Amino acid sequence: MKLCHRRFLLLTLSYMFVFWVLLAVLRNPSIQTFRSIVGNWILDNDLYPCTFRKLPMLYQHGDSHYFVVWETTCPSGDPMVEWWTSDMHSHVYTEPWYRRIDANHHRYTAIFGPTGNASNVFYKVNNYRQSTQQYKIHRPAKHALHRVLVMADNQNGPSNFRKVLARISKFYGSNTPDSILHVGDSVQTARSLKDWQKQLFSPMEDIGGMQHRTPTIFVPGNHDHDKRRKPNNSNLYTDMYHGLFDSEDLGNSAVVDGKYHRFYHSVSVGTARIIVLDAECPSAEQSEFLEHELQSPEFQNAEFKIVAIHIPPYIEFWDPYTWNDKGEKHWGEHIRIEYDPMFRKYGVDLVISGHQHNYQRSTVHRGPGYERDDPITYAIVGGAGGRLDLRRVEDYHMYNVTYLDHHFVSLDIESKRLHWVARNIADETVDEFVLQH
Ligand SMILES: [Fe+2]
Repeated sequence: MKLCHRRFLLLTLSYMFVFWVLLAVLRNPSIQTFRSIVGNWILDNDLYPCTFRKLPMLYQHGDSHYFVVWETTCPSGDPMVEWWTSDMHSHVYTEPWYRRIDANHHRYTAIFGPTGNASNVFYKVNNYRQSTQQYKIHRPAKHALHRVLVMADNQNGPSNFRKVLARISKFYGSNTPDSILHVGDSVQTARSLKDWQKQLFSPMEDIGGMQHRTPTIFVPGNHDHDKRRKPNNSNLYTDMYHGLFDSEDLGNSAVVDGKYHRFYHSVSVGTARIIVLDAECPSAEQSEFLEHELQSPEFQNAEFKIVAIHIPPYIEFWDPYTWNDKGEKHWGEHIRIEYDPMFRKYGVDLVISGHQHNYQRSTVHRGPGYERDDPITYAIVGGAGGRLDLRRVEDYHMYNVTYLDHHFVSLDIESKRLHWVARNIADETVDEFVLQH
């Protein structure tokens, strides 16, 4: 081979090697933090023309409505959410609410539906300046397999969260889950734009972007929202329910004085029914809602009766100082004292919580004195990224499994079978159980 050919070959191989190293570095979940920092710095300093800052994040509220939030770096004309289903003959256009957070954060929110029982729902943000691609929401039939990603407490731990997300992405591959059950504390500080970008939106976008087409069933945590319910409050991305109860409830003084909260709702996932509660805001209205929902035919006739609430009824790990001296042991007492007996009375199968940053799971017998004499399972899944809780403060002698590291849960619900698997970031199974009827 001629010298010039050898040189050319060597140069080509060197370029390929450098490209391969660069690709490997950029794919590393920890490095992506740097990529997001640079990207957001460019947007913050107006060095890029108007663009999407946050592509749509989809939430599910009730059985046939979706809430979508997105954000641009400038006011975006008159955007619409264009949506349709596989059963519909024409498309529907829904106008969003606009909120100017600051000069670089222009937030839009819309609720669309009802979508009926269609197996596929499609939507896109449509605007002459800023349009998205078309997203497809897959909705399995009631008795078909529903795959639910369960996670909580990625707050303040973006680097760990990225590792958990990378594992999730590998686990599901192209078969993205049908729903995400986020059991709260998605950010550290609800009023901090930086926290929302760095701790939730950027990691989700960088690693798969499943939030665009997989709806999140959102369970509010104590860090996610300001307790007041006012227009233009500091709930930058969690005031979705203002829209649902817009004019009537925002004018209600009970809303303004902080005693009236409506994050709670119920949703069906296949043959399961999930009641979502707001752990931070006990109120007569929420108690009334809970009792009503527990007795409802939708809940009682469901194969699997699930309650999702951020603060668990039984916490065993916390910071001993804040637990004992700062009174945080009393924080969720109402859940254990008031709600838990109701869970038992009405035959709840599974209570899913976060808040405590590790994994625990217990299946206990309801025992005498309750209406039903069968098991109830409590699961704590607070390991999506936040700093771990490693110190024991209580011992209820009830948990079968305790795992003190980051993790996520794949929850598969198919007709009469519920399959729960907790996995860590090394792809090991931490815990597994099946409920079969
Ligand atoms: Fe929490």
